[in-house]
Amino acid sequence: MIDIHCHILPSLDDGPLTIEDAIEMARIAGEEGITDIVATPHVKENIYPVGAISEKTHALQHEIDRNNIPVNIHQGGEIFYLHHASLDVLNRFSINQTRYVLIEFPPTHLPTIYETVVFNITINGYAPIIAHPERNLSIIKNPVLIHDLKKKGALIQLTAGSLTGYFGRDVQICSEYLMQKKWVHLIASDAHSADYRPPALQNAFDRAKKLGGEHYAGMLFNDNPRKILNNEPV
Ligand SMILES: [Fe+2]
Repeated sequence: MIDIHCHILPSLDDGPLTIEDAIEMARIAGEEGITDIVATPHVKENIYPVGAISEKTHALQHEIDRNNIPVNIHQGGEIFYLHHASLDVLNRFSINQTRYVLIEFPPTHLPTIYETVVFNITINGYAPIIAHPERNLSIIKNPVLIHDLKKKGALIQLTAGSLTGYFGRDVQICSEYLMQKKWVHLIASDAHSADYRPPALQNAFDRAKKLGGEHYAGMLFNDNPRKILNNEPV
């Protein structure tokens, strides 16, 4: 499986504090059957210099290899929606230097400019992936908004823990609704640590299989994230 949303770079955002914690996350991911992780630090108040991200990614990969963990780390970012008009940010934090960018809205509501956000990103040649909309209160109240986001050209990424109940019943119900509608393109861990939010996908994969069938689950955890890493159309 491929995890396209994971806070694994150490001492950068609210992810792991140390490189040892990050290696432990990679070890768990490997045991879960994850072969590739996109490191997606929050790009919100801090816009990290591009060198800092690639340096940390390479240093972490080096240690992962040294520990014989079969996991590849790719560069990316979780870009707060207010940066949607900055081509420099989109370019710098796109997933694996492709046209795909992971976009985060606030959890409290869907901003009224959400259509402008998606439009600006797509008109500039990028493909927005909306991070965990099932945890957004506006969407929990009105999941049909997802249909609108999709029509405007956005891809939809659920968090694995949403399907398994980690974020509570409302988020789980919303996730199940989106799965049944087949409005989801990707499921990722959004992991932040080795213990309280680990990079685990297996339980969510089993749940997705029950909800949408084996073929659909395979698309969400394997085929679509692979296409994204390769800059192919989803
Ligand atoms: Fe995240």
